[in-house]
Amino acid sequence: MATSTGTPQSDAVAPEADGTGVRRRDFINIAAVSAAGVGGLVTLIPLVSQMAPSKDVLAESTTELDISAIEPGQAIKAVFRKQPVFVRNLTQKEMDEADAVPLSRLRDPETLEERTKEGHRNILVTMGVCTHLGCVPLGAGEGENRGEFGGYFCPCHGSSYDTAARIRKGPAPSNLVVPDYEFTSDTTILIG
Ligand code: FES
Repeated sequence: MATSTGTPQSDAVAPEADGTGVRRRDFINIAAVSAAGVGGLVTLIPLVSQMAPSKDVLAESTTELDISAIEPGQAIKAVFRKQPVFVRNLTQKEMDEADAVPLSRLRDPETLEERTKEGHRNILVTMGVCTHLGCVPLGAGEGENRGEFGGYFCPCHGSSYDTAARIRKGPAPSNLVVPDYEFTSDTTILIG
């Protein structure tokens, strides 16, 4: 009777001769990933430093204004982030007119109080950009048409703003925007 004398064959993959094959492959993979990680870091650092704003850009992002020369009833035009900004010193009469308007009559209801800083409610700071299509309204310059509500008038399509620069008539959907700003002294404001 014939008997088999061959060595039994196994389906399992034999370990490599020194028994370290798997670990070596892992090391190669880890080394490749680590190299990619270092490469990523090296390219990230210059990118982050490029993204940091330069001093020039930071300076452009704020506007400091001396408002001591603005008489009651007068306004000035300035520039903030390349856009016009109006600063107006309201008379008592203009403040009273703004206070007398019921909020229910306003398209974009805001009080003068909410649009000015505490203790400085006579100083109205707004962007000089009509909220309809972005024209520069009249009313900040000497002798300019302030419209029928005594604030600002946009001649492009006839939007009228009141003495608190709130939209009262015409196609503009909202009040002139009050930018972020603060008083750094009684006569100086920092916008931005
Ligand atoms: S842009 Fe001012 S009314 Fe149209």
